[in-house]
Amino acid sequence: MRSEFTIRDAVIEDAPAIARVNYLTQRHAFRGLIPNLELDSLDVEFLTGQWNQNLSLANPRSSTYVVINGESLIAYSRFYPSIDPDDDQDRVATIGSMYVNPDFQGIGVGRELMKTVLKAAKELAFREATLHVLVANKRAREFYENLGWKRDMEADIGGSGEATGSKVRYRKSLL
Ligand SMILES: CC(C)(COP(=O)(O)OP(=O)(O)OC[C@H]1O[C@@H](n2cnc3c(N)ncnc32)[C@H](O)[C@@H]1OP(=O)(O)O)[C@@H](O)C(=O)NCCC(=O)NCCS
Repeated sequence: MRSEFTIRDAVIEDAPAIARVNYLTQRHAFRGLIPNLELDSLDVEFLTGQWNQNLSLANPRSSTYVVINGESLIAYSRFYPSIDPDDDQDRVATIGSMYVNPDFQGIGVGRELMKTVLKAAKELAFREATLHVLVANKRAREFYENLGWKRDMEADIGGSGEATGSKVRYRKSLL
């Protein structure tokens, strides 16, 4: 990642820019992977409302990080205690989002952001991290596998996460 990018904790004022990255990235990456209707009904204002809510909920074991390039927010990621029934939420964190603006993909932003997020989760005493990714999202799956994530189980976990469709879970030790 080039040195002009910085990574910091998200603040509530970031909600509209996070929503914008979410909107652009989903429309770019998920076309053909999830129903067009779902993509075409994405709405930046609605997403901004959701992010206002996410960022105002004070959970001491949840964090959102953003990547800034100049004045622009170009990527974000968020983790929180796992809500999977077979995982202990005291020790397992779930990476709930990992989105890089399409114009900035493939230059190391996601790798650096993931490093920051996993370090923060470890500092909050989580021992493992999981994430859910669309089975069909080959690019993201290769990205995670490249970074040492291991496929955990195959399951149709439907609406969990931000896009509907069959997903697989990946897992990584933080120790
Ligand atoms: C998946 C995503 C987060 C990756 O972020 P990124 O900034 O593009 O990835 P990076 O440039 O940091 O790549 C990190 C490593 O993964 C590798 N990688 C990235 N994409 C890859 C691909 N399609 N195939 C194989 N390896 C890939 C890179 O080569 C790099 O390895 P290297 O440093 O050894 O060369 C980003 O592309 C994205 O936002 N995609 C769309 C949204 C999405 O699918 N998010 C995940 C939802 S679960």
